Amino acid sequence: MQDIIQALEERRDQARQGGGAERVAAQHGKGKLTARERIEVLLDLDSFEEYDMFVAHRCTDFGMADNKVPGDGVITGWGTINGRMVYVYSQDFTVLGGSLSETHAKKICKIQEMAMRNGAPIIGLNDSGGARIQEGVSSLAGYTDVFQNNILASGVVPQISVIMGPCAGGAVYSPAMTDFIFMVKGSSYMFVTGPDVVKTVTNEVVTAEELGGAKTHTTKSSVADGAFENDMDALMEVRRLVDFLPLNNREKPPVRPFFDDPTRREKSLDTLIPENPNTPYDMHELIEKIGDEGDFYEIQRDFAKNIITGFMRLEGSTVGVVANQPMVMAGVLDIDSARKAARFVRFCDAFDIPILTLVDVPGFMPGTSQEYGGVIKHGAKLLYAYGEATVPKVTVITRKAYGGAYCVMAPKHLRGDVNYCWPTAEIAVMGAKGAVEILYRSDLGDQEKIDAHVADYEDRFANPFVAAERGFVDEVILPRNTRSRICRAFAGLKTKKLDNPWKKHDNLPL
Ligand code: COA
Repeated sequence: MQDIIQALEERRDQARQGGGAERVAAQHGKGKLTARERIEVLLDLDSFEEYDMFVAHRCTDFGMADNKVPGDGVITGWGTINGRMVYVYSQDFTVLGGSLSETHAKKICKIQEMAMRNGAPIIGLNDSGGARIQEGVSSLAGYTDVFQNNILASGVVPQISVIMGPCAGGAVYSPAMTDFIFMVKGSSYMFVTGPDVVKTVTNEVVTAEELGGAKTHTTKSSVADGAFENDMDALMEVRRLVDFLPLNNREKPPVRPFFDDPTRREKSLDTLIPENPNTPYDMHELIEKIGDEGDFYEIQRDFAKNIITGFMRLEGSTVGVVANQPMVMAGVLDIDSARKAARFVRFCDAFDIPILTLVDVPGFMPGTSQEYGGVIKHGAKLLYAYGEATVPKVTVITRKAYGGAYCVMAPKHLRGDVNYCWPTAEIAVMGAKGAVEILYRSDLGDQEKIDAHVADYEDRFANPFVAAERGFVDEVILPRNTRSRICRAFAGLKTKKLDNPWKKHDNLPL
């Protein structure tokens, strides 16, 4: 018996060594952790239960029969993050470059399927040279099996991808279908075709970092949701994110102990809105003053900064926040901000996370680049997302809610549950100056008359009361009471039940 146990330990030891000391040293030399070290950082101490440690590929071509490493380049299993279950796979670049073979894919598929059955998030740590070249179409088939599972798992369990090395070609499409993508600065990249192919086909000269590094994907393409300094930071941020999320779509979001008084008043909010309606202010200040302990987990912080998306907690429960940011392009809606917010709203709705919307929006961005880029369809995504969402929706209009943007930003008319306004709210088709220039075109030469018209328009529309008279807002609230009012609003919506009409699926404007 002792011999058998020893033999098992030896086999395990061998599997744990991955591609060997030299390749592990090379991995460390690049500032990267190994696949196993990453799992250790990600999960609670000693919580990892590994599966398929001895799985080996079956390829015999190109001398592969003699090139087998137990585990086949990916470590899979489950563990806990702050006591809550997650499934994880971690590609081992020291084993054949973490390349994906038929068996490597099967290991990933196995935990995807277990995660769906058992209702726990899937976290993929990607570090791979792509499809295993020696296996040809078998590895492509493997990828597609993984994609299919990504699609089936979407909206069932949260899926998080962390890109911690190469991720190129077909490999990008698994992360692309997950809910959140994090990247490590300097050591990770994602692209469909690499710099050499780009040079051959389009004659562009570009480095891997410029083409698909963390900065590119968090500032330009919005493929990724967060960029972090190193492996450790990225993994710790995944832990923080998971703390906000429900484990699956049948579960309510987690409730954590909280120390912040829900009735806390914030007098400073009474002066947040500047005297001049065209002067910006930082919407982050409002978000941080509303949420429990000022904690806010921002998603896509570096992209489309004219809208802010992220998670806070109110009375310990997770709430998704969407907020116009007057500091950036006056908080205008455009293609990028509409897409960013729409995806976030749909994530929240899929996982039963209530949505708080903070509105200060002067309208949609005009211009040919917006129209040619399809702002109609992209803007419609956000409108659609809010309208189809059945989770509790609370909206606070702090200042401007003009025109089409009023209709989009979670108004009462899109089944908003509780819609509040600050006394500084201005709800109108457009700003006073623009409105007067259209309504009183014939008076345009006469500044006195125009000023009088502007004052009259402001008097009538630059306030929340026209909307309040019609019940389009439920109440005009004091800024200082915002936290307590929205805490009570969400508390009153805990038992909300609303179903959309049956359909096979919708036809979201894509
Ligand atoms: N299939 C099989 N083995 C692969 C592989 C793949 N797709 N990608 C990398 N490897 C192997 C390498 O042969 C090497 O093996 P070794 O340690 O036994 O020498 C090991 O992984 C490390 O690769 P290496 O090229 O030395 O690492 P690098 O850091 O210099 O470069 C890449 C990394 C990903 C840029 C490079 O390996 C690469 O271009 N790979 C192919 C990418 C590709 O075209 N994939 C298929 C299409 S999706």
